[in-house]
Amino acid sequence: SPVLKVNMSEPFNAETPAPLLTDHYTTPTDIFYIRNHLPVPEVDPNDYVLEVSGEGLVPTRLTLDDLKTKFEQRTVVATLQCTGNRRSELQAIKPIKGLAWSVGAIGNAEWRGVQLRDVLLYAGLKDLDFDGHVHFEGLDRNSATGECYGASVPARTVLDSHGDCLLAYAMNGEDLTRDHGYPLRVVVPGITGARNVKWLSKVRTSKEEYGGFWQQRDYKSFPPSVDWDTVDFSKAPAIQETPVQSAICSPQDGSALPAGVGSVTLRGYAYSGGGRGIIRVDVSADGGKTWHEASLREGVGQDPYRAWAWVLWDANVPLPVAGTPREMDGGCEQQRVELCCRAVDRS
Ligand code: MTE
Repeated sequence: SPVLKVNMSEPFNAETPAPLLTDHYTTPTDIFYIRNHLPVPEVDPNDYVLEVSGEGLVPTRLTLDDLKTKFEQRTVVATLQCTGNRRSELQAIKPIKGLAWSVGAIGNAEWRGVQLRDVLLYAGLKDLDFDGHVHFEGLDRNSATGECYGASVPARTVLDSHGDCLLAYAMNGEDLTRDHGYPLRVVVPGITGARNVKWLSKVRTSKEEYGGFWQQRDYKSFPPSVDWDTVDFSKAPAIQETPVQSAICSPQDGSALPAGVGSVTLRGYAYSGGGRGIIRVDVSADGGKTWHEASLREGVGQDPYRAWAWVLWDANVPLPVAGTPREMDGGCEQQRVELCCRAVDRS
């Protein structure tokens, strides 16, 4: 898409320009962010087979046709957010490695597929309280090391009785595009983007967590005292559910408002991991001294504990009139305004 903001061309990584995010409750596929670690594989749907095996399972091979005919088809609207979304804001405070995502490494889509829970039961799983891990491997490979992209999630997120974790073949009513994992990807609602493996080739149940690079040595959170030379990756768990957050999509950071306006309209999104519904968003035009409640426009009315999708909000906020710092910039007198938002979720 010519609209996406490219953060890296090979492998291809691009995000949605912030103001476009709030135009649609479900993000159109052609402007949905793309996050690839490795070259995008080309998969012939006729040769495609998903291998399902591991702890408590009978090794099972399923074609796309098997998936579409042997199981109930489900649709789930869920937000997918890259684990590195908004890293540029962290990088503005202290240098850290990783792509400099702004607020657009997130999108909301309608996913269609089959319940992974059903597939595991079909493959012989008896213990619905199995508290191990479910591993996923993709068909994309690092040509130097031979390693494929892989990740795992706690089995309980897959085995939950609602069965919202999908093996998805469609996004927004159409077959997945190559960039988004054609022909099959896993969508684990409420869990950080990195675990939603694309071009899925293997599903495996295990007592152990997945041992691959992106599960063990990336996508973890450390205190500010730790840096790349001192980090011990075994000291932190892999990020799974993500915390509550909200972002202002318009106006954009650093933009100018017309002189003399008395108020500004803010638009943005709010999302929390683990299905925890957003109950409120507050905004401020004075750096957080006073707060106004935003209107939640879309995404309201979700099940409060299975709120897999974001909320889009807007708010018209009065601008502070006097007593704020003024500065000269290129001969113009400017008044600096600090806009903030914060969201509150069920927890
Ligand atoms: N799956 C494979 N096979 N390879 C990848 O590089 N990237 C992961 C995840 N699944 C990735 C993958 C990351 S970090 C994210 S944020 C999401 O896919 C991005 O999904 P999208 O490109 O469809 O937006």
